[in-house]
Amino acid sequence: MDPQILASQLRHPSGEHASEVALNMNSANGQLNVKCIDLLNLQNSESLLEIGPGNGVFAADIIKRADNLSYTGVDWSADMVAEAKRMNEDIVTSGQATFQQGNSSQLNFDNNVFDKVLTVHTLYFWDNPLEHLVEIRRVLKPQGLFCLAFGESSFMKDLPFVPYGFELYDRELACNLLQDAGFRLLNAEYYAEQGVSNTGEVVDKIINIIICKA
Ligand SMILES: C[S@@+](CC[C@H](N)C(=O)[O-])C[C@H]1O[C@@H](n2cnc3c(N)ncnc32)[C@H](O)[C@@H]1O
Repeated sequence: MDPQILASQLRHPSGEHASEVALNMNSANGQLNVKCIDLLNLQNSESLLEIGPGNGVFAADIIKRADNLSYTGVDWSADMVAEAKRMNEDIVTSGQATFQQGNSSQLNFDNNVFDKVLTVHTLYFWDNPLEHLVEIRRVLKPQGLFCLAFGESSFMKDLPFVPYGFELYDRELACNLLQDAGFRLLNAEYYAEQGVSNTGEVVDKIINIIICKA
Protein backbone atom coordinates (compact mmCIF):
# COMPACT_ATOMS: atom_id res chain seq x y z
CA MET A 1 0.00 0.00 0.00
CA ASP A 2 1.17 3.52 -0.75
CA PRO A 3 2.75 4.95 2.45
CA GLN A 4 0.51 8.03 2.42
CA ILE A 5 -2.63 5.91 2.16
CA LEU A 6 -1.33 3.53 4.84
CA ALA A 7 -0.65 6.51 7.15
CA SER A 8 -4.20 7.80 6.79
CA GLN A 9 -5.59 4.30 7.37
CA LEU A 10 -3.50 3.83 10.53
CA ARG A 11 -4.80 7.19 11.78
CA HIS A 12 -8.41 6.52 10.89
CA PRO A 13 -9.16 3.15 9.23
CA SER A 14 -12.09 3.62 6.88
CA GLY A 15 -13.59 2.48 3.60
CA GLU A 16 -12.43 -0.39 1.44
CA HIS A 17 -8.99 -0.76 3.09
CA ALA A 18 -10.18 -0.61 6.70
CA SER A 19 -10.72 -4.32 7.45
CA GLU A 20 -7.43 -5.39 5.89
CA VAL A 21 -5.44 -2.67 7.67
CA ALA A 22 -7.06 -3.62 10.98
CA LEU A 23 -6.18 -7.29 10.54
CA ASN A 24 -2.58 -6.37 9.74
CA MET A 25 -2.46 -4.25 12.90
CA ASN A 26 -3.74 -7.22 14.91
CA SER A 27 -0.72 -9.31 13.89
CA ALA A 28 1.80 -6.44 13.91
CA ASN A 29 0.75 -5.28 17.40
CA GLY A 30 -0.53 -8.49 18.97
CA GLN A 31 2.35 -9.31 21.32
CA LEU A 32 2.62 -5.69 22.44
CA ASN A 33 -1.07 -5.53 23.31
CA VAL A 34 -0.83 -8.77 25.32
CA LYS A 35 2.14 -7.33 27.22
CA CYS A 36 0.19 -4.13 28.03
CA ILE A 37 -2.85 -6.12 29.17
CA ASP A 38 -0.56 -8.22 31.43
CA LEU A 39 0.90 -5.06 32.98
CA LEU A 40 -2.56 -3.70 33.80
CA ASN A 41 -3.05 -6.72 36.08
CA LEU A 42 -6.84 -6.77 35.82
CA GLN A 43 -8.75 -7.78 38.96
CA ASN A 44 -12.28 -9.14 39.40
CA SER A 45 -15.11 -6.71 38.61
CA GLU A 46 -12.87 -4.00 37.16
CA SER A 47 -13.80 -1.83 34.18
CA LEU A 48 -11.39 -1.09 31.35
CA LEU A 49 -11.60 1.57 28.66
CA GLU A 50 -9.56 1.11 25.49
CA ILE A 51 -8.94 4.17 23.31
CA GLY A 52 -8.44 3.27 19.65
CA PRO A 53 -9.08 -0.49 19.68
CA GLY A 54 -9.46 -0.67 15.89
CA ASN A 55 -11.39 -3.88 15.25
CA GLY A 56 -11.37 -4.66 18.99
CA VAL A 57 -9.69 -8.02 18.63
CA PHE A 58 -8.12 -7.87 22.10
CA ALA A 59 -11.42 -7.32 23.96
CA ALA A 60 -12.10 -11.05 24.21
CA ASP A 61 -8.70 -11.66 25.84
CA ILE A 62 -9.18 -8.72 28.22
CA ILE A 63 -12.51 -9.86 29.64
CA LYS A 64 -11.10 -13.35 30.32
CA ARG A 65 -8.36 -11.96 32.58
CA ALA A 66 -10.57 -11.94 35.71
CA ASP A 67 -14.20 -12.48 36.73
CA ASN A 68 -16.93 -9.99 35.93
CA LEU A 69 -14.76 -7.58 33.94
CA SER A 70 -16.34 -4.94 31.75
CA TYR A 71 -14.71 -3.63 28.58
CA THR A 72 -15.47 -0.41 26.67
CA GLY A 73 -13.78 0.44 23.39
CA VAL A 74 -13.89 3.97 21.94
CA ASP A 75 -12.62 4.55 18.41
CA TRP A 76 -13.11 7.62 16.25
CA SER A 77 -13.56 5.46 13.14
CA ALA A 78 -17.19 4.47 12.56
CA ASP A 79 -16.01 1.61 10.33
CA MET A 80 -13.81 0.23 13.11
CA VAL A 81 -16.63 0.46 15.65
CA ALA A 82 -18.89 -1.51 13.27
CA GLU A 83 -16.14 -4.09 12.66
CA ALA A 84 -15.41 -4.42 16.39
CA LYS A 85 -19.11 -4.99 17.15
CA ARG A 86 -19.28 -7.60 14.41
CA MET A 87 -16.13 -9.44 15.49
CA ASN A 88 -17.12 -9.40 19.17
CA GLU A 89 -20.82 -10.09 18.75
CA ASP A 90 -20.98 -12.67 21.57
CA ILE A 91 -19.42 -10.50 24.28
CA VAL A 92 -21.31 -7.41 23.10
CA THR A 93 -24.60 -9.34 23.29
CA SER A 94 -23.72 -10.66 26.76
CA GLY A 95 -23.07 -7.07 27.92
CA GLN A 96 -19.40 -7.68 28.77
CA ALA A 97 -18.13 -5.38 26.01
CA THR A 98 -19.34 -2.18 24.38
CA PHE A 99 -17.89 -0.30 21.45
CA GLN A 100 -18.72 3.28 20.63
CA GLN A 101 -17.55 5.99 18.29
CA GLY A 102 -15.76 8.82 20.05
CA ASN A 103 -12.59 10.78 20.51
CA SER A 104 -10.39 10.75 23.60
CA SER A 105 -10.24 14.56 23.46
CA GLN A 106 -13.85 14.57 24.70
CA LEU A 107 -15.11 11.33 26.16
CA ASN A 108 -18.78 10.68 26.68
CA PHE A 109 -18.40 9.38 30.27
CA ASP A 110 -18.82 10.79 33.75
CA ASN A 111 -15.79 11.49 35.95
CA ASN A 112 -14.13 8.59 37.81
CA VAL A 113 -15.77 5.71 35.93
CA PHE A 114 -12.99 3.33 34.85
CA ASP A 115 -10.45 1.33 36.84
CA LYS A 116 -8.04 1.06 33.92
CA VAL A 117 -7.44 2.73 30.55
CA LEU A 118 -5.34 1.30 27.73
CA THR A 119 -4.21 2.88 24.49
CA VAL A 120 -1.69 1.43 22.01
CA HIS A 121 -0.23 3.22 18.97
CA THR A 122 -2.60 6.19 19.06
CA LEU A 123 -0.62 9.08 20.61
CA TYR A 124 0.93 10.11 17.26
CA PHE A 125 -2.45 11.19 15.91
CA TRP A 126 -3.52 13.56 18.69
CA ASP A 127 -3.36 17.26 17.78
CA ASN A 128 -3.29 18.39 21.40
CA PRO A 129 -2.08 15.37 23.41
CA LEU A 130 -2.38 17.13 26.76
CA GLU A 131 -6.09 17.66 26.17
CA HIS A 132 -6.51 13.89 25.57
CA LEU A 133 -4.45 12.90 28.61
CA VAL A 134 -6.37 15.24 30.93
CA GLU A 135 -9.61 13.78 29.59
CA ILE A 136 -8.40 10.20 30.12
CA ARG A 137 -7.44 11.06 33.69
CA ARG A 138 -10.88 12.61 34.24
CA VAL A 139 -12.70 9.35 33.44
CA LEU A 140 -10.31 7.20 35.52
CA LYS A 141 -11.17 6.49 39.14
CA PRO A 142 -8.78 8.02 41.68
CA GLN A 143 -5.76 5.65 41.77
CA GLY A 144 -6.91 4.11 38.46
CA LEU A 145 -4.19 2.93 36.08
CA PHE A 146 -3.39 4.16 32.59
CA CYS A 147 -1.21 2.23 30.13
CA LEU A 148 0.16 4.28 27.20
CA ALA A 149 2.13 2.39 24.53
CA PHE A 150 3.78 4.01 21.49
CA GLY A 151 6.83 3.57 19.28
CA GLU A 152 9.96 5.43 20.39
CA SER A 153 10.75 8.26 17.96
CA SER A 154 14.24 6.86 17.17
CA PHE A 155 12.64 3.68 15.83
CA MET A 156 9.55 5.23 14.25
CA LYS A 157 11.31 7.99 12.32
CA ASP A 158 12.52 5.64 9.55
CA LEU A 159 9.17 4.00 8.84
CA PRO A 160 7.96 5.06 5.38
CA PHE A 161 4.45 6.10 6.43
CA VAL A 162 5.55 8.29 9.36
CA PRO A 163 6.18 11.53 7.36
CA TYR A 164 2.46 11.58 6.54
CA GLY A 165 0.98 13.05 9.68
CA PHE A 166 2.63 11.21 12.57
CA GLU A 167 3.81 13.27 15.58
CA LEU A 168 6.65 11.35 17.23
CA TYR A 169 7.51 11.11 20.92
CA ASP A 170 10.35 9.80 23.00
CA ARG A 171 9.91 8.56 26.53
CA GLU A 172 10.93 11.82 28.22
CA LEU A 173 8.50 13.93 26.21
CA ALA A 174 5.62 11.54 26.89
CA CYS A 175 6.42 11.27 30.60
CA ASN A 176 6.46 15.07 30.87
CA LEU A 177 3.08 15.28 29.15
CA LEU A 178 1.63 12.63 31.46
CA GLN A 179 2.87 14.49 34.51
CA ASP A 180 1.52 17.79 33.14
CA ALA A 181 -1.86 16.06 32.85
CA GLY A 182 -1.65 15.12 36.54
CA PHE A 183 -0.63 11.47 36.26
CA ARG A 184 1.86 9.87 38.66
CA LEU A 185 4.39 7.72 36.80
CA LEU A 186 4.71 4.15 38.11
CA ASN A 187 6.76 2.38 35.45
CA ALA A 188 8.24 3.18 32.04
CA GLU A 189 9.89 0.42 30.06
CA TYR A 190 11.07 -0.23 26.54
CA TYR A 191 9.53 -3.24 24.85
CA ALA A 192 11.83 -4.50 22.08
CA GLU A 193 10.57 -6.88 19.47
CA GLN A 194 11.64 -7.98 16.02
CA GLY A 195 8.44 -8.21 14.07
CA VAL A 196 6.48 -7.39 10.96
CA SER A 197 5.62 -3.70 10.62
CA ASN A 198 2.37 -2.43 9.07
CA THR A 199 4.31 -2.21 5.80
CA GLY A 200 4.98 -5.97 5.88
CA GLU A 201 8.72 -5.48 6.48
CA VAL A 202 10.53 -7.10 9.41
CA VAL A 203 11.80 -4.35 11.73
CA ASP A 204 13.41 -4.03 15.15
CA LYS A 205 10.72 -2.26 17.13
CA ILE A 206 11.36 -0.17 20.22
CA ILE A 207 8.11 0.58 21.99
CA ASN A 208 7.50 2.59 25.15
CA ILE A 209 5.08 1.16 27.65
CA ILE A 210 4.28 3.64 30.40
CA ILE A 211 2.07 2.80 33.35
CA CYS A 212 0.81 5.66 35.48
CA LYS A 213 -1.74 6.38 38.17
CA ALA A 214 -4.56 8.95 37.99
C1 LIG B 1 -2.70 2.55 14.57
S1 LIG B 1 -4.30 1.99 15.07
C2 LIG B 1 -3.90 0.99 16.51
C3 LIG B 1 -4.99 -0.02 16.82
C4 LIG B 1 -4.73 -0.91 18.04
N1 LIG B 1 -4.73 -0.11 19.25
C5 LIG B 1 -3.47 -1.72 17.91
O1 LIG B 1 -2.63 -1.67 18.82
O2 LIG B 1 -3.33 -2.44 16.93
C6 LIG B 1 -5.03 3.44 15.78
C7 LIG B 1 -6.50 3.27 16.10
O3 LIG B 1 -6.88 4.22 17.07
C8 LIG B 1 -7.95 5.02 16.63
N2 LIG B 1 -7.73 6.33 17.29
C9 LIG B 1 -6.58 7.06 17.26
N3 LIG B 1 -6.67 8.11 18.07
C10 LIG B 1 -7.91 8.06 18.64
C11 LIG B 1 -8.57 8.89 19.58
N4 LIG B 1 -8.00 9.98 20.07
N5 LIG B 1 -9.82 8.54 19.97
C12 LIG B 1 -10.42 7.44 19.45
N6 LIG B 1 -9.83 6.62 18.54
C13 LIG B 1 -8.58 6.92 18.14
C14 LIG B 1 -7.91 4.93 15.11
O4 LIG B 1 -9.16 5.11 14.50
C15 LIG B 1 -7.40 3.49 14.91
O5 LIG B 1 -8.46 2.55 14.93
